[in-house]
Amino acid sequence: MLRIALPKGRLGEKAYKALATAGYPCPELLEDNRRLIFENPGAGVQYFLVKPSDVSVYVEHGAADAGIVGKDILLEYEPDVYELFDLHMGKCRMCVAGPDAFRDTHTRALRVATKFPHIASRYFESQSREIEIIHLNGSIELAPLVGLSDVIVDIVETGTTLRENGLSVLETVVPVSARFIANKASFKFKGDEIRHVLDGLKSCLSEKD
Ligand code: PRP
Repeated sequence: MLRIALPKGRLGEKAYKALATAGYPCPELLEDNRRLIFENPGAGVQYFLVKPSDVSVYVEHGAADAGIVGKDILLEYEPDVYELFDLHMGKCRMCVAGPDAFRDTHTRALRVATKFPHIASRYFESQSREIEIIHLNGSIELAPLVGLSDVIVDIVETGTTLRENGLSVLETVVPVSARFIANKASFKFKGDEIRHVLDGLKSCLSEKD
């Protein structure tokens, strides 16, 4: 069976629906329960539900043959996997954001709060701007409001969280969307199965366009 890691939550549900349409259904996955493994032996597929930032860990280590993951995670952790396809779903952007009135005076290192220290460091390095990273795990928007940081580097989707906290986008770092990835050894030994999923995804997503 082909083992596919899916991110828990909204993106995972969307991705699963595309996979189901592509011929890999497993309806129990949408039921309200706490199970983490779902399989459909007839369709030759087994799904794992994991934290979005862990999808590439399962795939890189070969515990899953393939997975669906945001480009933000691939840029942050640079896992050694094949990135096969942009699903054009879960679209958002990685941004630098700060209080509406914020102006960078360049008099000291910029304090940057983020869940994405690698992406943030690389971005500001490319701008030759000295920074201090403050590594947080969530509710990043709070940091500049209480003086923990000057700005944040975070995902912006609808912009609601920024707006409701008096913050605005200062710069866009990179656009983000969901990607279909595969383990390198699996791609060698289960190449036909992985390509079959890939073709199914491509045709069902192009029909929607
Ligand atoms: C993400 C992100 C922003 C928010 C952006 O947070 O970190 O806070 O979504 O979405 P919006 O532009 O549509 O408002 P998430 O919901 O993953 O929670 P977190 O605060 O725990 O990171």
